[in-house]
Amino acid sequence: MQPPQRYTITSALPYTNGPVHIGQLSGAYVPADIYVRYLRLRYGRENVVYVCGSDEHGVPITLTAQKEGVTPQDVVDKYHAIIKKSFEEFGIDFDIYHRTSDPLHHKTAQEFFMKLYDKGIFIEKESEQFYDEENNQFLADRYITGGCPHCDNEKAYGDQCEKCGSTLSPEELKNPTSAISGNKPIMKKTKHWYFPLDKCEDWLKEYILEGKLDGKQHHDPKNWKKHVLGQCQSWIDGKLLPRAMTRDLDWGIKVPVENAEGKVLYVWFDAPIGYISATKAWAKEKGIDWEPFWKDGANDEKTKLVHFIGKDNIVFHSIIFPAMLKEEGSFILPENVPANQFMNMEGEKMSTSRNWTVWLHEYLEEFPGKQDVLRYCLIQNMPENKDSDFSWKDFQDRNNNELVANIGNFVNRVLVLSHKYYDGIVQPCDFSKEEDKAVLSEISKAYESVSAKLEKYEFKSALQAVLSLSSVGNKYLADNEPWKLFKTDEVRTGQILNVALQVVQHLAVLTQPVLPFTADKIVKILGTSFDDFSWSDGSNLNYIPGGHQLNKPELLFDKIENDAIQKQLDKLAAAKSQNLAAAPVTDYAPIKSTIQFDDFVKLDIRTGTIVEAVKVPKSSKLLNLTIDLGLEKRTVLSGIAKHFTAEEVIGQQVCVLANLAPRKMMGTESNGMVLMAEDNDGKLKFLAPSEVTKNGMSIS
Ligand code: 2FM
Ligand code: ZN
Repeated sequence: MQPPQRYTITSALPYTNGPVHIGQLSGAYVPADIYVRYLRLRYGRENVVYVCGSDEHGVPITLTAQKEGVTPQDVVDKYHAIIKKSFEEFGIDFDIYHRTSDPLHHKTAQEFFMKLYDKGIFIEKESEQFYDEENNQFLADRYITGGCPHCDNEKAYGDQCEKCGSTLSPEELKNPTSAISGNKPIMKKTKHWYFPLDKCEDWLKEYILEGKLDGKQHHDPKNWKKHVLGQCQSWIDGKLLPRAMTRDLDWGIKVPVENAEGKVLYVWFDAPIGYISATKAWAKEKGIDWEPFWKDGANDEKTKLVHFIGKDNIVFHSIIFPAMLKEEGSFILPENVPANQFMNMEGEKMSTSRNWTVWLHEYLEEFPGKQDVLRYCLIQNMPENKDSDFSWKDFQDRNNNELVANIGNFVNRVLVLSHKYYDGIVQPCDFSKEEDKAVLSEISKAYESVSAKLEKYEFKSALQAVLSLSSVGNKYLADNEPWKLFKTDEVRTGQILNVALQVVQHLAVLTQPVLPFTADKIVKILGTSFDDFSWSDGSNLNYIPGGHQLNKPELLFDKIENDAIQKQLDKLAAAKSQNLAAAPVTDYAPIKSTIQFDDFVKLDIRTGTIVEAVKVPKSSKLLNLTIDLGLEKRTVLSGIAKHFTAEEVIGQQVCVLANLAPRKMMGTESNGMVLMAEDNDGKLKFLAPSEVTKNGMSIS
């Protein structure tokens, strides 16, 4: 298949109300950066643009400003600078890191809005919304607090209860109060512009489920990740509704039509357009045309648009933004949205408000020069298809036992021996021996396999393929023992080191996308240049010539000691005790009223395994599960579809309340209940025996 002529690659624009942390890196930035570095090497830098920038609008930023007693502009200026600097130091190689407060972005977003407006796409609708009379302003959902209808939290937000995790709308709150004045708000009519997502349903279905656009094949949906398609599918199965694209707020991009004072564009309308404005700003600076990176002449698909994001952004990038682009009419649509799932931290959900994460700017200060160690761990633990975990012990082990022992040890051994025996001068070799040819063929194969994995967004496997080449090198040295052979055969020893050095050189090329700092270091030690060693398609490898003078060896990685790790663990422990002190009781639902032992023994709870799972049509919540209970198989409808896809629960061991009276839901009888734990963020977890247990065992 012919590669496209151009690539437009984006990473989610981070909100500018806090610094960047490793969860975001593993989700949207490290994978995109690897992919982009690869594309540039393979297809030429001029054919790839990688854009990102700060997402500087939205209500949370205004709340942060209010809390800190500064203006929203102060907040975004502060965090934009911190985020930009830490991305740079960490080596995320954007072509441009723009910002949505830039006038070029305001203009671009307003023009986009006007194009839709002039085409008559929007529905203008009046509705009643909460209004603070003292401050003369409509209240965004986050600005309204009140009693949660589902638990005893009296300070739930209008969009969510942070205690029980329920998603709310402000009208559901008991005693709603304005978070600005503390007064009771009134209901007042206001007008907004709605994007009719419902009208896009037919073509969106075709685009997402079949990869077709305007009747033509646009992409292969099999190349999309299952969990991305799963989320899209449940959105499409639910009802697509018109969505308001404007808000009553004074922080944001002014709605560019008459009689819209006090209204701004919804942050999720303007933010993705930020990718376009960033491309415009980049192209302007370079003196080139931006349009080929976003528009295809006559729909001939010459540019491939790929959005890298975390799973919380899937719907916006694979449904809402594509719908905006399509209705606007002149833009290309994403070819893929290879979203990642979430990374946990030391076995718990990462949380910025609870300081349960690793902040990038702090890491860079505390582990100077170790960008690639973090990058390596984030790749090895990348949540490509399911949630993953970062732990400091794993970080230390991977550095000490993998990086130091594999690539580090191999490169160092070859360089040290070359200096010891030949003063760092590469000895001649004609690669005529079979064992040498075999190694060179492994180099070629490594290019093929790393490229193939990267094309499929399989970053972990790509890294494994690079490491395998280093293992080939290590094995070649171990088999040939040049440190012994030198005593009897100096010529052959020189040849062996030559072959090993070719492996080192090509390892440098192959590590460029995954570990760029390490790649540069290797080339510096070799005294070669990447200009002489381009990314190969597996044929025509270039070699370091005999007679080349190597530079002095330098260790690529050094050991990370226990005290450095302990310091980080202490920091987390401090965060934990602070959190406990701050929220001792409210994190827990109250204990229900007392029951007798006899009540408890009535419950027949059994172990089981989910053997089949399908989504219940027309329900956004229910999965139809077939559960093997040992003595029989049961159909159980479980309200977990918003948390798990059908594919991912198959094989899961569960605990089932087996003697619950049958209940009919959506036309199907459910026989039993799967037990789940719900944490404070509303996330569901399966309850299962601590190790796999025979199905049908009683739980008491
Ligand atoms: O979730 C976030 O951090 C959003 N600021 C991502 C926006 S991505 C894009 F649309 F700009
Ligand atoms: Zn609640």
